[in-house]
Formats: sequence, structure tokens, C-alpha cells
Amino acid sequence: MAILHRDVHLDGAPPSAPAFPSDHSSASALTRRSLLRGGAALAAATLSSLPPVARAAGRVPFGAAMQSDLMQSDPAYRQAFLDHCDLILPMNELKWDALRPSREEFSFWGADQIIDLARANGRRSRGHCFVWWNALPDWVEAIDTGLEAERVLVDHIEQVAGRYAGTLTSWDVANEVIANDPTGEPMRDTFWMRRLGIDHIAIAFRAAAAADPHARLVLNDYDLEFTGPEHDAKRAVMMDLVRRLQDHNLRVDAVGLQGHLYAEQRVDVDAVAAFGRELQRLGVGLLVTELDVIDWKIRGGPAEQDAAAGRVIGDLMDAVFAAQRPEAVITWGITDRYTWIPDAMPRPDGTPSRPLPLDARLRPKPWFERLQRRLRTAL
Ligand code: G3I
Repeated sequence: MAILHRDVHLDGAPPSAPAFPSDHSSASALTRRSLLRGGAALAAATLSSLPPVARAAGRVPFGAAMQSDLMQSDPAYRQAFLDHCDLILPMNELKWDALRPSREEFSFWGADQIIDLARANGRRSRGHCFVWWNALPDWVEAIDTGLEAERVLVDHIEQVAGRYAGTLTSWDVANEVIANDPTGEPMRDTFWMRRLGIDHIAIAFRAAAAADPHARLVLNDYDLEFTGPEHDAKRAVMMDLVRRLQDHNLRVDAVGLQGHLYAEQRVDVDAVAAFGRELQRLGVGLLVTELDVIDWKIRGGPAEQDAAAGRVIGDLMDAVFAAQRPEAVITWGITDRYTWIPDAMPRPDGTPSRPLPLDARLRPKPWFERLQRRLRTAL
């Protein structure tokens, strides 16, 4: 039974409107061919009915993701965000594993520390994330029916988005729902996909729109930036998801390019620009949500690492700005002192990674100064 339009109050009969198929066949239905065929038809149907993306005036906000434990333990880290950021968001504190120790409990302390710091200092904040394959507590993974999974998902979004309603600029409603290599199965095999099928994305967007009508709703993913068939496919799947959600009267305000940039790879400037222009035609904005540079394959030292970082970041900015003004550019942390990257992809020679705007001694990198100038003078 199609459950895309299942009323978020769970007892509503599904409307007669057509919906995503709600079983795994939907994943195969999202083949590349249907993406292109369906997308073109839907695009034509929706082009004229959507307002253009509003072009904000003034500079493009720069932001960074903060960790609450570090904010407490490292005052210089905390101050660096206040020195450089227009927007400060919780990196992990709004994820299920941080928020929900049990089904009965919500633990907002960590998120509140960061969001309150931002607001007390006249900065913006945003939420990350509701639907994700990772960071799910065991009690969620133990849910074994679609009805219960939907009930828990909708309740979570209502409680969390409702708590911060009107204070966050946007939410990553769904994060990394596309397969790593979508040239085969386009959708990632996740708990939410297994319990609810592809409709879980629509359920989340509908619940978020109801719980916080002020926040912009974002579909967030990685590897949308590079050259290659798997990246072309990922951009195509993302575009199809946006169109299908819109086709079912759901508001998708923006796509988040995470921007975890491999320094040895090439950003596909033309393809990303075309992707961003297509989104703009659909009335959908762009953010860069988790910018950092993975430099494990860059030989040499800091000068070579920073030069390579400057290249890929510059290319990404060229691509994004060629399409539309980004709503924000956000890095995933602010200093090389604390980053996920060396744990996941350490440099073979054991030297420090240099992924973020400030080095381990909190000194701005040359590429960061260029980026800040570009964001401040954006037309
Ligand atoms: O806070 C607890 C601490 O109390 C506990 O003692 C410790 C040891 O278990 O874990 C701490 O939580 C960790 C958390 O980071 C804060 O440090 C989690 O175990 C750890 O899994 C978590 O890793 C984060 C990861 O997402 C998973 O949530 C990384 O910091 C974070 O950078 C990474 O961010 C993701 C984005 O959300 C999505 N895009 C990719 C990106 C990089 O993987």
C-alpha cells in the first residue's frame, strides 16, 4: 500500500493521490533511465509553478559545526567560532544517538549549549539531522514494524523541530539517503528504508514542515561535487528525489552539498553548476554544509596540502556561484586540532591532515581568507 501520504498522525487513510511505491521495488524504479525520463516530465510540469529561489541580499553566511564537549574544555576553540562564524551548529548533538538515550528520554543539553551560544552572540544555527543511516540508538534499530518506525520518526521530528521552531535557519531533514555508488541501486539500504521504503523521506519532510514552518528543509548528501559516472548518477538521483518530493506537494527548500572534498580529485565545475541551475529552476536553493578537505593523498607538507585545498575549494565555489548564490557555506569543524578526517583517512606519512579553515594553532589558512573575502563580496 502506498504510504507516502500517510497522515503524520498515522491513523489517516492514505489519500487517493499517487505516491512513491512503498516497497523496495521503488529503489529499482529509481533507475537511471527512469530518473531521466521521469525527471524531465516532472520538471516540465513543475517549472512554471514554483517561485524562483529568493536571492538574499548581503554576504553569504559562513558557518561551522561545533562539538559541545570541546566548547566546554577548550575556550580558544569556542572563541574561534565567535571570531569567524555567522552560523554555529551542533555537529553531533542533534543526532538520535546524542538526543535519545531511550525512547522516553530527550537529552537536549548538548545541542542547547551550542544553539544558545549562537543565539546569545547574534549568530544563526541550523539542525543536523533527522533521517540518517548512522547514529541510531539500539532501541530504534530494534523497532520491527513500519507503523512503529513511522510513529517514532514523526514523534521525534515533532518534538525536536518543535523545540527549536523559529530559531534554526534550516534542518538537514534527510541525510545521505542515496547509495554510495548509485549507478546500481540508487537508494542506500538503511533502517528507515527497510522499515518504510522510500516514503520515509517524504514522511520526514512532511513532519518537519509541520513542526517548524520557519526552517528551510534540506536534503543533504556527499560526493555530489566530483567528476565521474558515480557522481553524475548521484546528482541525477538527488534531482529526481527533489522533483518527486515536490510532485507530491512537499517543500524541499534546498540541497546540501556536504563538501567533504578529496584534494586529489577534480570538482566537476560544469556539472555542479548545471546541477545548481536545475535546482534553481525548481525553486530549490543550495548550501555547502560540511566543507573540509581530505588530503591523505597529497604528497609534501603544509604548503602543498593548503594549495591543494585551495584548488578544490575554489573550484567548488566557482561551481556553486555559477549556478546560484549559496544560502551558507559551512565547514565541518573549524580547526585542524579537532577533525574526523585523520581517524578515517590518515596521511600515510603520519603528518597531520589540514582539512579546516584554521590550523591546529587556530591560525587561518590562506584559502580561508580567500573564501571569506568571496563570501563577503558575493553579489
Ligand atoms: O559524545 C560521546 C562521548 O560521550 C563518548 O564517550 C564517546 C565514546 O563513545 O563518543 C562520543 O560521541 C561520538 C561523537 O562523534 C562525538 O565525539 C560518537 O561516538 C562518534 O560516532 C561521533 O562521530 C561523528 C560521526 O559523524 C557520527 O555521528 C563525528 O564526530 C562527525 O564528524 C561525523 O559527521 C558526519 C556527518 O554527521 C554526516 N556527514 C559525514 C560526517 C563525517 O563522517
